[in-house]
Amino acid sequence: MSKVEIKSKLPNLQTTIFTTMSQLASQHKAINLGQGFPDFPMDPLLHNLVEKAMHNGHNQYAHTFGFQGLREVLAEKINTLYCNAVDSETEITITPGGTYAISNALTSVLREGDEVIYFEPCFDSYVPNIKVMGAKPIAIPLNFPDYSIPWEKVREAVNPKTRMIMINSPNNPTGTLIGLQDLEQLNEITRGTQILILSDEVYEHIVFDGEKHYSILSHTELFERSFVAFSLGKVCHCTGWKIGYSVSPAYLTKEFRNHHQFNVFSVNTPMQVAMAEYLSEPQTYLQLPKVFQDKRDFFAKEMENSIFSPLPSKGSYFQCFTFPENLGDNSRKVALDLVEKVGVALIPVSAFYQEETDNKVLRVCIAKKEETLREAARRLTNLSYGI
Ligand SMILES: Cc1ncc(COP(=O)(O)O)c(C=O)c1O
Repeated sequence: MSKVEIKSKLPNLQTTIFTTMSQLASQHKAINLGQGFPDFPMDPLLHNLVEKAMHNGHNQYAHTFGFQGLREVLAEKINTLYCNAVDSETEITITPGGTYAISNALTSVLREGDEVIYFEPCFDSYVPNIKVMGAKPIAIPLNFPDYSIPWEKVREAVNPKTRMIMINSPNNPTGTLIGLQDLEQLNEITRGTQILILSDEVYEHIVFDGEKHYSILSHTELFERSFVAFSLGKVCHCTGWKIGYSVSPAYLTKEFRNHHQFNVFSVNTPMQVAMAEYLSEPQTYLQLPKVFQDKRDFFAKEMENSIFSPLPSKGSYFQCFTFPENLGDNSRKVALDLVEKVGVALIPVSAFYQEETDNKVLRVCIAKKEETLREAARRLTNLSYGI
């Protein structure tokens, strides 16, 4: 076969650790606490609402900005939760998932040579999407073990090429939250500059122990320079539906939509119509902190007698654990051993760094049924190797 010569825009990319671990999980019939998706059913009411939308003929292209009814419900939710009266007409765009909300924001504003500051460990889509725009990702490692943001390092990294700072709270993989103090630091650093912010808030409702989610949307000054990405797949336990939204002030939304209309044009209609009705009942999302906190606490209790030690998780789908030296000194290798020999797939947090940083931490997805968590904890507690 004669191949046409192409210069890869993303050379040296490997299969993601999530795909690798999920493949190994199915190969070894292991319990998959690796990839971040629920194994429990979503609310049947939402199924029925999608069916109803289809029956009622909502099967053609939706508006390119998103179904108006859904944008209105989301605007109301944002106003109630974050005291920001965003305009559903000019500031909210429905997207095919949070990943796309992030990539399309980056596509809309980044140019060759721009620098983007982000924090590691981080969600794996950020860096390739920065690079593909010809921009330069500037990694700042979070402090270990509390995963707080070293703001003095951010100040040192900022220069005239800095175009954007990306944040993520509740955080994947660390389970930490950004506080009011962090937003103030970010505001001080960006005030009077041309720096934009991209805030990934896909786990906005999954916050534990009565803590608060400090959204960029609740900070008037920061919002003026921000894109904020959300995921309805996470809110409604249907990650496979790939539906989310982006919120930004009108002048940024205009740029976002310029690209969006030629990337996907619109998002599937029946799901949007159904979500509009479903989310008009706030209890659908206000109950989420308890649902997931119960799962975190259940798993922690089941793991009490294991050799793994939990790091604090204040939100998200995730709980991190450190492991003792006798299991090994390479997280990736330990995760591979666990899936093969113990039958539990976890994700090594080292995979969320570009350069090798291994604090010997494994990430567990707690968005699973109790029986799944119980059996995984049983296997992890009764390890028969490395001890
Ligand atoms: C931090 C973070 N951002 C974005 C996403 C993507 O969300 P979606 O599935 O809606 O594309 C995820 C999914 O795991 C995530 O963990």
